[in-house]
Amino acid sequence: MKISVKQAISLLNQGVPVAIPTETVYGLATLVNNSGMIKKVFQIKGRPSDNPLIVHVATLLQLKTLVKSMPSALTKLKKFWPGPLTVVLNANCSSVSPRVRAGLKTVAVRIPEHQLTLRILKKVGPLAAPSANCSGRPSPTLPEHVENDFGSDFPVVDGGPCRKGVESTVIRLFENGDWMLLRQGPLSSRQISQALQRQPLPCVKEARQLSPGLRHKHYAPQAQLYRCQMKSHLKKIMMKQNASALVSYEDQKNQNSHLKFYSLGKRGSYKDNLRRLYKVLRQLDTDKIKCAVIDCDVPEHELRNTLLDRINRASGDING
Ligand code: TXA
Ligand code: MG
Repeated sequence: MKISVKQAISLLNQGVPVAIPTETVYGLATLVNNSGMIKKVFQIKGRPSDNPLIVHVATLLQLKTLVKSMPSALTKLKKFWPGPLTVVLNANCSSVSPRVRAGLKTVAVRIPEHQLTLRILKKVGPLAAPSANCSGRPSPTLPEHVENDFGSDFPVVDGGPCRKGVESTVIRLFENGDWMLLRQGPLSSRQISQALQRQPLPCVKEARQLSPGLRHKHYAPQAQLYRCQMKSHLKKIMMKQNASALVSYEDQKNQNSHLKFYSLGKRGSYKDNLRRLYKVLRQLDTDKIKCAVIDCDVPEHELRNTLLDRINRASGDING
């Protein structure tokens, strides 16, 4: 059910979670200190309680209230806000419910780039918001996706299609300016290294402890999805798996006419590919596709890992 910004503000203040638009994906918003409301968000999503939430703010002033201190290196990251960067910092534990932090002493924060949500945040204050999808499903990039998961009566602020289409890049920033990449996203590791003038600390094992969300299966359609690493092998793999659909790029469009074809745009146009990915994965389910092959033969690029990360998770390869 589409609601206005005014209605969203009123519902949130009454303790009712609502879905809000961001530039990455739609979020399911709750006040950061209303434990009943936060509990509801975990229940609506079916989210494991050990997976902490990102807190969204409109300004650095709001951010300041949530953290123990602002590392000086944060100044170098300000230029990415509002935008798809989430930074994990030491929490001011008294201002953020332990339910939001999943008991950790840190808090993940970001300033989203969407005018409607910024208006809501300015009025209501910081809002914790996981992606507004049932846990494990592809994140919603349209209001209709939220309604598909939570029911047509669920309150959603309609902010149109999400411009980025995948979740924010998450980093841990330490007091001394060191940092780790916890989740790939629309902002590349290179852009962050450049801004901080520092390479990330290696973190595969630690990241799994620091960012519990990485342990869970994600972004998966109901369809079984098989990855194909070489486009010359597409036909062979489709025959072998008995797949009825192909998720690929414009250059393959007319080559497999007997199959259902889903396009991620032009091969190597990563921003467009990322923007389309979840919509396509959800479309597979709408079309009742049981088994599909997805083309992973994509060129070198700083966003290649982001695309492959989401595809790997969607095809059930959590460590991918
Ligand atoms: O783009 C996004 O980030 C979207 C929009 C709504 O802002 N939100 C989103 O939230 O993707 P969610 O809940 O689906 O993913 C949050 C990720 C999880 O991987 C979680 O483990 C990590 O952020 N995270 C949250 N708080 C953390 C913390 N204190 N330390 C480490 N990781 C944290
Ligand atoms: Mg999510």
